Amino acid sequence: ASNRMWGGRFASGPDAVMEAINASIDFDRKLYAQDIRGSLAHAAMLAETGIISAEDERKIAHGLNTILSEIEAGRFAFSRKLEDIHMNVEARLAELIGPAAGRLHTARSRNDQVALDFRLWVKEELQRIDAQLGRLLDAFLTRAEEHAATVMPGFTHLQAAQPVTFGHHLMAYVEMFGRDRTRVRDAIARMDECPLGAAALAGTGFPIDRHRTATALGFRAPTRNSIDTVSDRDFALEFLSVAAICATHLSRLAEEIVIWSTPQFGFVRLSDAFSTGSSIMPQKKNPDAAELIRAKTGRINGALVGLLTVMKGLPLAYSKDMQEDKEAVFDAAETLDLMLAAMTGMVGDMEVNKAAMRKAAGAGFSTATDLADWLVREAGLPFREAHHVTGRAVALAEARKCGLEKLPLDALKDIHPAITEDVYSVLSVANSVRSRASYGGTAPAQVRRQIRAWRRRLKRD
Ligand code: ARG
Repeated sequence: ASNRMWGGRFASGPDAVMEAINASIDFDRKLYAQDIRGSLAHAAMLAETGIISAEDERKIAHGLNTILSEIEAGRFAFSRKLEDIHMNVEARLAELIGPAAGRLHTARSRNDQVALDFRLWVKEELQRIDAQLGRLLDAFLTRAEEHAATVMPGFTHLQAAQPVTFGHHLMAYVEMFGRDRTRVRDAIARMDECPLGAAALAGTGFPIDRHRTATALGFRAPTRNSIDTVSDRDFALEFLSVAAICATHLSRLAEEIVIWSTPQFGFVRLSDAFSTGSSIMPQKKNPDAAELIRAKTGRINGALVGLLTVMKGLPLAYSKDMQEDKEAVFDAAETLDLMLAAMTGMVGDMEVNKAAMRKAAGAGFSTATDLADWLVREAGLPFREAHHVTGRAVALAEARKCGLEKLPLDALKDIHPAITEDVYSVLSVANSVRSRASYGGTAPAQVRRQIRAWRRRLKRD
């Protein structure tokens, strides 16, 4: 038999393979709530403008609400024959209310309908991510406060560079996730336009009121160009880009946590709740959550590249290719939700080994820059000469297998006569971090200042 929704010109039904490649109901059923909400707003507008009768609108609304409760109660029979969520709902509506159901699709196409449903879904997901980022930032600020003065090695090239504080390091991630949150909000603001009423691609001859449906569905305004409206998936691409950037931040931190939790580093110990054991090696405690966060970033990046590739050569306006937009976004959304929740939990209750961090902070001649700076400040050397002198002090310490602060004064004086006892005041890691008090620097006072500013900002938004 041919299709009830579009089968007028068809003599026979689709091949089973056609049905299999064409049907999207297995995944787009996720859009049921948005689809029904959109149809309710559309039907109300059709009645208000006199396009359908108030009586038909009443039946349609009643039927749609019945379908909503059927789906939510798990009592709705989804059918692949009916392709997608839009036609599944409409077919059930016809069963429930009869011919009035056929009036719902007046002045509408599945093209603007799916653009609406998907936009509503993505917008809600971005709002969920916004809230999750808020919780993550809160957890990070709490840990940063606790460790504003906890000294750890700062790395470049993963080689000890200069001592920093763990609070400062965590606050670097606060900046990243804070930017992610502004990206989320920018994306919401940009996609906040209602597609409904673009119809197939050209608009409609019916006297619809697009401003009314836009307002009813919580959008700032209707979209301005009907062709763009049904061709555009920027909002999905932007969601995936925002998600990919955020996932990338999560992945970098996950990698650091994997490194920090090795017995060799021993900077942090993950709680039992966020680690796993080995089935053969009884001593093992593995950072699986961190590893999975690192790995799942690949799925999200893949989703972004996948949808960019789907969209890149599409002529205007709608093509069925665009049905491939949903699974990528659904998977990325679910994945990012999990990653954010896992990272928030993991960082919130990991144990920080201050002694191990402090010990490592002093290794690798990490205060060499402080010695060079001292020579510039106190002995008036040009920085390049100070750099050279300090290099010789490092070579000597290396030969004697000791730290810079353990070199005796006369040995230092042999390297440069201007060096005095006072130099030892800058060679300790605590003094080193305290001295880096430039705006945005690692000095505990600066770190606390940034934490206070972030707390105020979080309270505001
Ligand atoms: N299931 C379709 C999608 O996800 C809905 C739009 C179908 N429109 C069409 N002209 N075939 O894109």
